Amino acid sequence: MSAPRSLDPKRPPKGKGAADGRTGRPRGAENRSLSRPTRNIGHKQGAGAGAPPPARPRAEERLWAAFPAGTWQGLGCAAGWEEALAAEIRRGFSTRRTIGPGPGLVLAEGDGALLGHDWVFARAFFLDVVLVNEPSVKGLVRALGEAADRVLDGSPLPWTLRVQTMAAWAAEDGDDPDAGLEGRAGLVAEAFLERMSTFRRRAMVRYRAPADLSDRQPCVLVQAALLNREQALVSVAEPVRGPDGRRVPSPRPPGATRPAGGGWVPCRSYFKVEEAWAAGGRGPLPGELCVDLGAAPGGWTWSALQRGARVIAVDAADLEPRVSGHPGCTHLRENGFAYLPPQPADWLLCDMIVRPLATLGLLERWLAPGLCRGFVVNVKFRGKDPSTILEAVDGLRERFSLARLRVRHLRHDRNEITLVCPPPDRPEAGRARSAARTAARDDRHASRQGAGRKAPWRGAKRGFRGAVRGGKGALPTSCRSGRP
Ligand SMILES: C[S@@+](CC[C@H](N)C(=O)[O-])C[C@H]1O[C@@H](n2cnc3c(N)ncnc32)[C@H](O)[C@@H]1O
Repeated sequence: MSAPRSLDPKRPPKGKGAADGRTGRPRGAENRSLSRPTRNIGHKQGAGAGAPPPARPRAEERLWAAFPAGTWQGLGCAAGWEEALAAEIRRGFSTRRTIGPGPGLVLAEGDGALLGHDWVFARAFFLDVVLVNEPSVKGLVRALGEAADRVLDGSPLPWTLRVQTMAAWAAEDGDDPDAGLEGRAGLVAEAFLERMSTFRRRAMVRYRAPADLSDRQPCVLVQAALLNREQALVSVAEPVRGPDGRRVPSPRPPGATRPAGGGWVPCRSYFKVEEAWAAGGRGPLPGELCVDLGAAPGGWTWSALQRGARVIAVDAADLEPRVSGHPGCTHLRENGFAYLPPQPADWLLCDMIVRPLATLGLLERWLAPGLCRGFVVNVKFRGKDPSTILEAVDGLRERFSLARLRVRHLRHDRNEITLVCPPPDRPEAGRARSAARTAARDDRHASRQGAGRKAPWRGAKRGFRGAVRGGKGALPTSCRSGRP
């Protein structure tokens, strides 16, 4: 058995709930019961009995200590943003007990309804989470199977599976995921589906590939997240309803991280705005007018152009020639703070590197006279406390009744957040979108019919593997190279 891996020894957890390196307890947890939860599955009680405790607990042991009995919800964030997420939990739910047992993870005590909140910093969710301590793939599959059987045997709902590593949500964009652990996640997924198809055929009939489930449909999500080679978070539950009716956690795999067809993009920012469109529920429609303030080198503009929108790109700097040469693009070398559009825009896009309150002031100046119907605005923290900025955003939300506003710390956001508020559909756009959806559904149906009577999990495993490996390793590494 190989030595257990640390969660991230170089980056100790921060914040109120973070584990104290000296005692191994979460800070501020002195009066809490630190006994290991009886609900944890597969923990070998006898292992290491009688051995003197190590002077300085390893990260895995700190995680154990920080996981008291009770009902806990797991919320994953980017590593280093645990305190921002814990503050968000405290802000939304004043009496919640939170623990940050390791980088990229905050546990909140309470029932699953908590996950239905409109989270800014949380990007992975584990309903009624338990910690499994199993050094082998076989043991982990057994533990996951026991947890799954308990729920699936009593549920008529379709179900799906997601096995991932912490890198899937916690690693910064561009960090190398732990390839060994990713491979292990793939093995666990395969072995779990094999187990189900051999011993749980009745449940297996209800298995669906993640991509075949809508993110609004009731289902059961079987999740395992490998924290290291020996420990995993396990959650088997029916996702709750989020603020926009979508399920949390979503049963669907994370969105594509490459442009369709692996095509050319001007820079990494392209992926940020793609993520923003997904968070808001839609991107620009053909013919819509976007004004992109701080557009160079052109990632956001390019993404909008690819969707058939027209773009006025405002920036003193050069755009990539392929972007400025696009017939739908008008490049103006003007000051984004002074620029006013000739007619109200469907989308205001703004990614200028300026002070956060200056960005929010600009947004307010566009919203008040109705210069835009919707927007994607990136707000850089630049040393400001995120909660101050979130309060200012809440002020705008109230003042302009921005019911569709989503505020997210996106996977491609670093020291910043992105505000996304799609414009209301025009009636003709709504009809076009529903026709496109029907056509896509018919295509999927036709391709499934064409696939013959294959076992339902076969194709799904491929889709699932995509979700495991579709992390950040797939992204281009440089803005300048422009090629993924
Ligand atoms: C982070 S980059 C934008 C990247 C862009 N979203 C993309 O996808 O390629 C910030 C840009 O804001 C521009 N910028 C900063 N202040 C500006 C201002 N007052 N008016 C217009 N552009 C500005 C800079 O020239 C820079 O190109």
